[in-house]
Amino acid sequence: PGPNRRQDRSAFDAAAAEARVADLATGRAGFANTPDTDPDLPANRTWGRAVTGRMRGSDLGAATVREHTLATSEELERVMSAGVAAAAGWQALGADRRAEILHRAGVVMEARRAELLEVMGSECGKTLDQGDPEISEAIDFAHYYAGLGQELERVDGATYVPSKLTVVTPPWNFPVAIPAGSTLSALAAGSAVVIKPAHPAARSGAVMVEALWEAGVPRDVLQYVQLSERDLGTQLVSHPAVDRLILTGGYETAELFRSFRPDLPLLAETSGKNAIIVTPSADLDLAARDVAASAFGHAGQKCSAASLVVLVGSVATSRRFHSQLVDAVRSLHVGYPWDPRTQMGPVIEPAQGKLLRGLTTLGEGENWVLEPRQLDDSGKLWSPGVRAGVRRGSEYHLTEYFGPILGVMTAGTLEEAVGIVNDIDYGLTSGLHSLAPEELGYWLDNVQAGNLYVNRGITGAIVRRQPFGGWKKSAIGAGTKAGGPNYLVGLGSWKDAPVPG
Ligand code: SER
Repeated sequence: PGPNRRQDRSAFDAAAAEARVADLATGRAGFANTPDTDPDLPANRTWGRAVTGRMRGSDLGAATVREHTLATSEELERVMSAGVAAAAGWQALGADRRAEILHRAGVVMEARRAELLEVMGSECGKTLDQGDPEISEAIDFAHYYAGLGQELERVDGATYVPSKLTVVTPPWNFPVAIPAGSTLSALAAGSAVVIKPAHPAARSGAVMVEALWEAGVPRDVLQYVQLSERDLGTQLVSHPAVDRLILTGGYETAELFRSFRPDLPLLAETSGKNAIIVTPSADLDLAARDVAASAFGHAGQKCSAASLVVLVGSVATSRRFHSQLVDAVRSLHVGYPWDPRTQMGPVIEPAQGKLLRGLTTLGEGENWVLEPRQLDDSGKLWSPGVRAGVRRGSEYHLTEYFGPILGVMTAGTLEEAVGIVNDIDYGLTSGLHSLAPEELGYWLDNVQAGNLYVNRGITGAIVRRQPFGGWKKSAIGAGTKAGGPNYLVGLGSWKDAPVPG
């Protein structure tokens, strides 16, 4: 029995869905996270829209995962052969037909928004305000990459040849948008996909995959597997049939996978240790709010999260800024996603190792402005922590913790603050709060990060409008920015391209 058997399709209006697919295919309809007409307008986020839909305890994902669990290498061989065999047909289908299916995938995910929200919340601790725009992002990836695939096929004088079999290994922290974005990009390019969602996000990934199957992506073209972490590297990533890997995860994981298959083209978005600089010219009220939201949204479990705030000059001693920041952080309601008051959810797995150290110990010269407290026996529910006195070059300054902790650093000048940011090996997101054009100019010219945000929070990139990707140790391989115009180019190669000169 297929997993869709258990679906309640009563909420799905097939005729309306097809009309929407047609509107999308002809450009008459726009994206979920961006306005229909003007890409330069501020983002039209869709907070809370889906909460009226079905919310139910879902065992559907778990059943799906069981059905697709791979215990043996024989099963994996069958998956790989099926994927390679299916790739030719998927490519031959042509970009227009594939685009239609991918647009339909966006429409199906929209129809299943409530179910996705439920599984992301129960499985990965996503609160509704975090999960809802994430689903919009996944939908936007479907429509955006569908169009990019069509553009690639229409390039004059050269033929785009996609990889045959792309392996996608997403993380658990964006359990829908990242698996969906990576998968949809490869499918739009014309590649078959084998996806192995992270274990804590196995059900969310399964529901996303089901939505794509339901939209018409053939099951051999998109296959779902679960493997132990060890087999993931030694059997799946290392498999000779794989010719592309899209990985989002830790820098060390990416390096490990690369060591298994040094010849394998890799698109990896990896770790981050991100900072927001606040100068005396800034709107301090806005800055305090944005720092708190960037640091503690999804309990800091985003590669894009703010882990540091660097206060320049008089901001370092500004009582007003400090009390605004402390108030903003202290007032966050911490809880589980099914409590509608919750603004900061749990950490996904009981804090241990580096994260536990970050939550419980201070470096030399540091003090707690707000000391994190463990709020229940699960080890997952922590109040947000703010530490001050973080020294340049210290462990806290340079380490990614991936949890609800913010460190405060100070700098005499903007130049020094940018130096503090650039000391860090990673370069994913970076923020500046300043109302002085010359400060903005200096920062833009000198700060080393892939995604720059001015006078706003530093998480929440938007498909097409703000593509997402890192610099330095935050990106490895051929990756251009996800959600940006060149992303699909990294998923194939060119035949008959004219030789420059
Ligand atoms: N795309 C996410 C963000 O921008 C991170 O993966 O926050």
